[in-house]
Amino acid sequence: MNETIKTLLNRRSVRTYKPEQIKDEDLQIILKAGMYAPSAMNQQSRHFTVVQNKETLRRINETCKVIFSKSGNQRFEEMAKSENFSVFHNAPTLIIVSGDEKAIAPQCDCTLANGTMFLAAASIGIASCWIHALTQINGTAEGQALIKELGLPEGNKIFASGAFGYNASELPIAPPRKENVVTILK
Ligand SMILES: Cc1cc2nc3c(=O)[nH]c(=O)nc-3n(C[C@H](O)[C@H](O)[C@H](O)COP(=O)(O)O)c2cc1C
Repeated sequence: MNETIKTLLNRRSVRTYKPEQIKDEDLQIILKAGMYAPSAMNQQSRHFTVVQNKETLRRINETCKVIFSKSGNQRFEEMAKSENFSVFHNAPTLIIVSGDEKAIAPQCDCTLANGTMFLAAASIGIASCWIHALTQINGTAEGQALIKELGLPEGNKIFASGAFGYNASELPIAPPRKENVVTILK
């Protein structure tokens, strides 16, 4: 098995992070990988907002907490009550991928870039996790204020985000994959 396939199979969603920040040169490699992901008609409709500022991370987390607490979803509301609530698992780097809503397929462009960044990160020893909750801030007043503050390009919507950092514990075991999900017609 070559190194690329090993990385694809061994990448895991990590939910425990060391406080130590990732190196700038590694961040640049991860971002470059995201930028080289395919995009519909090569529109490259995505924008990458990297948040490493502790106070900004705290405010994003607080906004998500408020949104969770008013979500009407019992599980999310329970999570929001926790003192240790961290929507991005206390990772030191959060990358928000937003897309131009007028593009052909911004959701696909953004989510593919997000996944590509996870693989690049795994290949250089950096852990990551998809953070879906950030997409929920688009539709709320609290979220709109935050989007403005984060300086997302005008007309962009958050379609994906990822937590990045160094894993603070054992790499999780891969959750078993479903069977019978492939049909090959020859
Ligand atoms: C669209 C999407 C949304 C996800 N949202 C979250 C999330 O908000 N928080 C989280 O901890 N993990 C999230 N995950 C990670 C999944 O739980 C994880 O990929 C899955 O359990 C399989 O584990 P693995 O990534 O280690 O193979 C998300 C994954 C995807 C693809």
